[in-house]
Parts: sequence; C-alpha cells; structure tokens
Amino acid sequence: MMKPTNKNIKKAASIIRKGELVAFPTETVYGLGANAISSKAVKKIFIAKKRPADNPLIVHISNKNDIYLLAREVPKEAIKLIKKYWPGPLTIVLKKSLIVPPEVTCNLDTVAIRVPQNKIALSLIEQAQVPIAAPSANISGKPSPTCAKHVAQDFKNKIFVLDGGSTKIGLESTVIDLSKKPFTLLRPGKITLEELKKILGKVVVARHNSKKPKSPGMKYRHYSPKAKLILIEGERNKVEEKIRSILTKDCGVLGVNIKIKSKKTINLGKDHRTIASNLYSALREFDDSKITTILAQGTEDKLLGRAIMNRLRKAATKIIKV
Ligand code: TXA
Ligand code: MG
Repeated sequence: MMKPTNKNIKKAASIIRKGELVAFPTETVYGLGANAISSKAVKKIFIAKKRPADNPLIVHISNKNDIYLLAREVPKEAIKLIKKYWPGPLTIVLKKSLIVPPEVTCNLDTVAIRVPQNKIALSLIEQAQVPIAAPSANISGKPSPTCAKHVAQDFKNKIFVLDGGSTKIGLESTVIDLSKKPFTLLRPGKITLEELKKILGKVVVARHNSKKPKSPGMKYRHYSPKAKLILIEGERNKVEEKIRSILTKDCGVLGVNIKIKSKKTINLGKDHRTIASNLYSALREFDDSKITTILAQGTEDKLLGRAIMNRLRKAATKIIKV
C-alpha cells in the first residue's frame, strides 16, 4: 500500500503506461486499473480478478471531453447529465468508438464511461495520459473494496495500491444506459433514479433477470461474504421479530439500527449515506468471524436505499418477506 504522494502517483501512472495494473481510490470504491486502449493490459484485469469474460469494464477519464474519443454518439441527455454529475458517481453507457478495444466491452457495441470525483484518481488518469479501464478492485464475487487494506487482502499484496483512505460513498457508481431508448438504469447508486428522472424524463429500471440480463454484471451473485446471508424485508417490527425467531448461536446480525444481541451484531447506521459507506466493510468483517449465517435487516427501497437494497439482495442467498 502506497501513500498517494506525487511521486507515487507518478510511479502508478508509469505502471499503467507499461501495461500493468494499479489499484486506486475513487469516491465510490477502489478500482483495479489498466490502460483502457490496450487489449493486452485490459486482459490482465480479468485474470487478476478472476472476472467472468463477459462482464465489461468501466472506462475512467479525467477530462469530460474525452467522452468524444470513446463514444461515437453522445445524445443531448448525456451532455445534461455530464454537466450536472461529472466528476461524480455516475457511469454512462454509450455507443462505442473504434478506439475502445473489444476486451473492455466484452464485444458489446457500447462502452461505459465515467469521470471519478477523487483527486488521486484524477491525477493518476491525467499523468497516465490514457483512459483507465477499472472494475472494483476485489476478487470477483467479493464485496467491493472501500479501503486499501481490502484490496491488499484480496490480491495478497501483489498489486500496487495507492492508499487514499476510506472511500466517501462506499457503493459503486450508478450505471445508466443512454445508448438506446428507453433509457435504462442498470445499477442504482448515489445518483438516484429519482434524480435521473428529473433530467431524463422516462427511465426504466433493469430488472434482475439471470437469463437475459441488460447489463452483464447483473447475472452474477455479488458482494458475497463467506457466510450465508439471509435478508429479511418488510415492516420494521415484523423484521425484528423474524430475526429473533430464527437467530441461533452461529448467526450474526447485520442491522441498520437494531437492538438484537448475537455472536456478532453490526449496525450500519441510521441514515442511508452512513449505511452505504459501512456496508462492504461490515460484510468483510463477518468474513473474519466464525459466523455461518448473517441475518440482515433491509431498509427503504427508494433514493439511496435502492442502491443499498440492490447490493443486499445480490449478496443474499435467501430473501424472506414478512
Ligand atoms: O463505482 C464504480 O463504478 C467502480 C469504480 C472503480 O469506478 N467500478 C465498478 O466497476 O464498480 P465494476 O466492473 O465492478 O462494475 C461495472 C458494471 C458492471 O455491472 C458491468 O456489467 C457494467 O458496469 N457495464 C460495463 N460496461 C457496460 C456496457 N457496455 N453495457 C452495460 N453494462 C456495462
Ligand atoms: Mg465490481
């Protein structure tokens, strides 16, 4: 893990230019970056993460205008979103240009692009002088890393990690597909569906469908701790009652704000921002304990809560509605 000094950022940029991998902080989660216009470099990401070969990557740029290099069509709605939300936790899917190698998009005709809002990330991209393809810097299927230590754990210290401390948001960026109509929310995040609708009008929400996913990333189980995670959804009191009734000595409890004693009870916080920023480190904390089952309390499925519930549902082996 390297302090994000100018010297180390410069070193990281030179590693990217040599076609190797670097992990770096963004405002959402840590990314595992490679030169996005080099097929050879991008392939290394898939190998290092054990990422399924059909799950495309997000291309990170430091200058909004570089979108015109990567996308061959930029609709006016995209320009509106960029003005308001870039740099920031919003990824836009557009029709790709020829410069983007097929390894980045897994042969799709579209490319996902964002400008992150983190000084270290922006400085790294600028100095690398190439766009950086970066998925979350975790082994595929694990919770995304929200601090440098998570990255070092997953990759056994074999990757150069710029340590920018804990990430601000803690959940991955919102992904919106503007490559065709109707515009589709592929992954909920900090920029909410409600906010996007204000600018775009109609937005459909891609439903989780393992057979025919709209975004390749949707079909995989994600963010999974080692223990089974049972998510209990419904009215607050009933959820608490249910958790108490199935709790055994091997269970942990992942609450929002719950008073249930167990072998390991973690409360994520009272408001959605705090819950979002604590979720992944909590899932990893359960990995370090001897819990076999995590009983998780859900939250409201709207605004930022929609992103939290999306991740909890994907992490869950079972969902109980009460
Ligand atoms: O916050 C973030 O977005 C972080 C940081 C590092 O920027 N990155 C991240 O990347 O979460 P990753 O690879 O874990 O998630 C990328 C998501 C996947 O669900 C993938 O399927 C989707 O974006 N995606 C990428 N390109 C796509 C495309 N052309 N069409 C549809 N979905 C795409
Ligand atoms: Mg990921």
